[in-house]
Amino acid sequence: MDLKPHIRQVPDFPKPGILFYDISTLLAHPQAWQATVQQLEDAVRPEKPEILAGIESRGFLVAAPLALQLGLGFVMVRKQGKLPGPNVPYTYDLEYGQDTIEIQEGAIQPGQRVIVLDDLLATGGTMSASVELIRKIGGDVRGCACIIELSFLQGRAKLDVPVTSLIQFD
Ligand code: PRP
Ligand code: MG
Repeated sequence: MDLKPHIRQVPDFPKPGILFYDISTLLAHPQAWQATVQQLEDAVRPEKPEILAGIESRGFLVAAPLALQLGLGFVMVRKQGKLPGPNVPYTYDLEYGQDTIEIQEGAIQPGQRVIVLDDLLATGGTMSASVELIRKIGGDVRGCACIIELSFLQGRAKLDVPVTSLIQFD
């Protein structure tokens, strides 16, 4: 199934000049959403993950159904201050300033094989920070997967693990 037509492109959101790739239309279409989860499952299963990590907030929508489908646990990578601790933080640079994400201590066992999921890969900053955070608690990150990749931003160059995307925009 061709998923691309199910992504709505919204000009000037959230700021003038930004083209927003909206997965709401994909989520609202049961067959397209089912096909999305199935395509991700086919891509991720060969890596034999033991646990899936989803990145707040839209990454949760991707990782949770996939974890159910694969019969795996699901762990949240969250913005700072959202998770009851003890937590492990990771701070990374943005274009302007910094951001901190967290994961619960012990959420992933040392050496456990993890796949990290998000809805969209843009600059790759969010994904690469999440990979480093998971490594910080000992996780063995086997790959990353997302629905949409903005290829022109070359986010995958920031990642040293295999990256799967279902839809690319050039
Ligand atoms: C968006 C998107 C990815 C990230 C990609 O999340 O869902 O998580 O940006 O950008 P990057 O590759 O340049 O880091 P956003 O911060 O808008 O938050 P949300 O998922 O909570 O809506
Ligand atoms: Mg996000």
